[in-house]
Amino acid sequence: MNIIQVKNEWKARAKLTNDDYEAWYRRSVEDPDGFWGEHGKRVDWMTPFTKVKNTSFAPGNIDIRWFEDGTLNVAANCIDRHLDKRGDQTAILWEGDDPSESKAITYRELHAEVCRMANALKARGVKKGDRVTIYMPMIPEAAYAMLASARIGAIHSVVFGGFSPDALAGRLDGAASDVLITADEGLRGGRTVPLKKNADRACDIAAKAGHAVKTVLVVRRTGADVPWTESRDVWWHEAREKASADCPPEEMGAEDPLFILYTSGSTGKPKGVLHTTGGYLVFAAMTHEYVFDYHDGDIYWCTADVGWVTGHSYIVYGPLANGATTLMFEGVPNYPDTSRFWQVIDKHKVNIFYTAPTAIRALMGAGDDKVTTTSRKSLKVLGTVGEPINPEAWNWYYRVVGEERSPIVDTWWQTETGGILITPLPGATDLKPGSATRPFFGVIPQLVDNDGTALEGVAEGNLCITDSWPGQMRTIYGDHDRFEQTYFSTYKGKYFTGDGAKCDEDGYWWITGRVDDVINVSGHRMGTAEVESALVSHPKVSEAAVVGYPHDIKGQGIYCYVTLMEGQEPSEALKKELVAHVREEIGPIASPDKIQFAPGLPKTRSGKIMRRILRKIAEDDFGALGDTSTLAYPAVVDDLVENRENRK
Ligand code: WTA
Repeated sequence: MNIIQVKNEWKARAKLTNDDYEAWYRRSVEDPDGFWGEHGKRVDWMTPFTKVKNTSFAPGNIDIRWFEDGTLNVAANCIDRHLDKRGDQTAILWEGDDPSESKAITYRELHAEVCRMANALKARGVKKGDRVTIYMPMIPEAAYAMLASARIGAIHSVVFGGFSPDALAGRLDGAASDVLITADEGLRGGRTVPLKKNADRACDIAAKAGHAVKTVLVVRRTGADVPWTESRDVWWHEAREKASADCPPEEMGAEDPLFILYTSGSTGKPKGVLHTTGGYLVFAAMTHEYVFDYHDGDIYWCTADVGWVTGHSYIVYGPLANGATTLMFEGVPNYPDTSRFWQVIDKHKVNIFYTAPTAIRALMGAGDDKVTTTSRKSLKVLGTVGEPINPEAWNWYYRVVGEERSPIVDTWWQTETGGILITPLPGATDLKPGSATRPFFGVIPQLVDNDGTALEGVAEGNLCITDSWPGQMRTIYGDHDRFEQTYFSTYKGKYFTGDGAKCDEDGYWWITGRVDDVINVSGHRMGTAEVESALVSHPKVSEAAVVGYPHDIKGQGIYCYVTLMEGQEPSEALKKELVAHVREEIGPIASPDKIQFAPGLPKTRSGKIMRRILRKIAEDDFGALGDTSTLAYPAVVDDLVENRENRK
């Protein structure tokens, strides 16, 4: 087994040693009230909390509260409290899509901009508890919009800018959001994204579904001509002129909602994951500090998009709560060329770099010289997130990008967990390529078999977490029963992650991937049921089944089995039409990689699609189809194998 031991130079710099980790971890699980009571003070409270943990995973009573009688404001913690000490320090370092464009926003400027946007929202009637939807490119105004909402106690719902009008409409309607903040266009890899046009279509669709958006606040990014609805649309630069740069932060209860973030699950409709104020902020800030071994003055870069949870916790809230300089990148890793990440690291002297395995694999394929022609001497810690990282990519990241000078933190977590749960700590944890290593403070992972029996020691099984941590989601927005059903009913009394994992002889955790009908495509989480419902909404499609298959760059690719309506002829043109249709329904991230026309799908006699078989065929591993005796029509399998799209 390849183990990379902590180097002396990492130890010398690190805030915590391995002994510290062990001692802190023990205390965090033996005395959570004492441990979190102390660390809860890392943020500024308006009214200090007197209660720490009040949580229940008991069937019928899923109730999660942390610091419940304390009050605070997240924006004040991310901005105002830094003004005295670091008002002139850069808060957001923005790097544009075009390498000639960048700018630095100080904490003082951030304060003024966020207050202005908060006042602009207030002027349009937004108040505490209202939902504000944010559909933005990676520009500083996206962070202003999140922080402005938090400042006035509104609940933000950020929707990734790559989602389609349909997907945006569903989220506007789901959250009954009266306000949408967007931009004229986005800019990525030299190409424009028609955000305002999409937003208009989304508003039309939402209106037809019965929810009319009242205000659309539009940031000018590219200056393109965009359609305009006078009674509804407002230019940010015009509203900004009239808005005061002073807006007192709203006093929020620790358990008041901070944001909703829609994410995919096993069922068709994305769920609105709800995070609250106090516990989330404490957990995001604390993990940011210790997982990345963040020191004052470090330049920190997370390449995620603010549309995903990683962007929430580790571009905006964690780093800003810690008074860090957080780099925000508008572009993509291969524009103008595949050296871009490493050039940006040199340009801004980045110390901590956090990205996804899919990007690492893609850049690994571009050749070492794209990396080695840059310096990267500023780097101290490298991180990955979003999907399992294969040891080959890990080693390349470690050797070629980091030149064996920087530890890699492989951080496992989820939208639902709010922050990192399983991870090494730089300078404390010996590393094993491909393993997320050990639990963060307060996190108790447990493997269970399919019957729910807990597995001790070296084992492989379904990954659960047995007790609450402060960053945990509190509910599914508007549907607490579904929250219990989704996460606490499979294994009663435990939070079930949906992931499979192994635990080795050193107590190290290895995430093996999802065990439910969620796939992970380029680090984007997707429900196979969502893609299926997009496919069957096409008039020529009668039935569809979607599975993931191993993909060299994306981690998993999307493989679709499609049965056509009576009288429809399969063709290459129709495949293209279906791919375009799914992009239109969900967005480009859901583009099918393979479509196989299937006269029939393998079903049990009770009509249930046997996905296990479809997965095997998609993997070109049909020698191991397993038991097919329960199939209603075993012959359909022969046709699927015969016409499979993936042949090794
Ligand atoms: C996967 C992203 C292996 C996992 C923060 C999880 C990982 C899902 C890792 C959550 C990792 C995330 N190693 N798998 N380091 N990090 N995953 O909600 O399957 O977009 O359940 O949150 O990504 O995806 P989500």
